Amino acid sequence: MEKLVIQGGAALKGEVRISGAKNAALPVLFASLLHEGESRIANLPRLQDIRTTLALLMELGVGIQKQDDGSRSLDASRLLSNEAPYDLVRKMRASVLCLGPLLARFGEARVSLPGGCAIGARPIDLHLRGLEALGASIELEAGYVQAKAPKGGLQGGRVLFDRVTVGGTENLMMAASLATGKSTLENCAREPEICDLADALRSMGAQISGDGTSVIEIEGSESLGPMDHTVIPDRIEAGTYMAAAALTQGNVKLHGARLEHLDALISKMAQAGVEVRREGDGLRVRHHGELHAVDVETRPYPGFPTDLQAQFMVLMTRATGSSAVTETVFENRFMHVPELNRMGADITTRGRTAFIRGVPELHGAKVMATDLRASATLVIAGLAAIDTTEVLRVYHLDRGYERIEDKLTALGASVQRVPQDWKG
Ligand code: EPZ
Repeated sequence: MEKLVIQGGAALKGEVRISGAKNAALPVLFASLLHEGESRIANLPRLQDIRTTLALLMELGVGIQKQDDGSRSLDASRLLSNEAPYDLVRKMRASVLCLGPLLARFGEARVSLPGGCAIGARPIDLHLRGLEALGASIELEAGYVQAKAPKGGLQGGRVLFDRVTVGGTENLMMAASLATGKSTLENCAREPEICDLADALRSMGAQISGDGTSVIEIEGSESLGPMDHTVIPDRIEAGTYMAAAALTQGNVKLHGARLEHLDALISKMAQAGVEVRREGDGLRVRHHGELHAVDVETRPYPGFPTDLQAQFMVLMTRATGSSAVTETVFENRFMHVPELNRMGADITTRGRTAFIRGVPELHGAKVMATDLRASATLVIAGLAAIDTTEVLRVYHLDRGYERIEDKLTALGASVQRVPQDWKG
């Protein structure tokens, strides 16, 4: 295992390039299963979750080659299996996104239930209900989902999601693309990653409209052609660096970041006194002086993203005044709070709301990463803290942040990755 050792106090200055979006790349990779031939995907981020997904696709029989320009070609012409085993799904719950494509392609699929994770139970009941609305029969046995399409394959239908689900919307978009007839998906997720998946599917010939709104219409196709797609930039990585620049009183250019994907964060940061503006191919974030306390409530897109809740909270630990952060999407996404308090923050949680009183400074400490975004928040806190912070179990970070210590070092931070012994 490894840890990051951070010497706090430097204001981040310079330029950083935002990588491809993890949460767009994952469904797009699984969508390549829908074509019996070769697809091409560019701008994949170099992350553990991408490597895990490529490994699962190879297990299913997909031939994968890296091109000179860094893009991947995926050949799904001869699939060997339609099963996603537990040992892969438990490592990365997004593996359940192979369910829709395998069911649509093969007529049946066997996928391990993902089980819960640190931030919540995260069931997939809405994915399964949706597939049943397209005619699939679903059985659960021994911790696996056994899904079967009707004889003539999946049939287009109406799907109404009880609550907004990103993965559920994605699974159903992929399944409906190869169903017979028209499907209408209602109460869909509206994230930019949903639109990116729709663009990738359209590059394969899928007839999809309404992505980005809560109603998506899909005219099923007999078959789909090769995908040729470039993944959008990662708005959550961008938001993470924006928070780090603001908290360290820095001035940073984020190449590739898209202002229109970050409206909710930018508006809250502006209320806190942080200047964010479009510049060339990205955004510039700069901040000097005090931070104003601002309340935030996470919501499905275009609301404030749950994946940036922790990063905004650490900003508020140094604000003048008190603020409240409410997490409405997941049931247990405050694990960064006790670690931030050990660094001198003053946060109390009551149910789904955290109350933050601004403090004059944070102090370095040895802290434990628990989930991807909480870990990034501890890094941000360490960058702004007095003296040294050690963030243990940095493998959580590697799932979603490409070369984080290199990118931060290039911005003037003092961050080193060193081996972590069992004592931490
Ligand atoms: C996606 O997870 C993202 N992951 C998450 O990012 C993100 O936090 C989440 O969407 C919300 O924006 C990927 O895209 C790979 P959901 P997903 O289905 O699809 C409940 C990160 O840090 N629900 O929108 O799993 C669920 O328990 C990760 O990059 C059901 O009850 O999220 C949750 O409370 C973390 N039944 C809520 O809905 C279902 O069938 C939203 O979940 C499905 C979901």
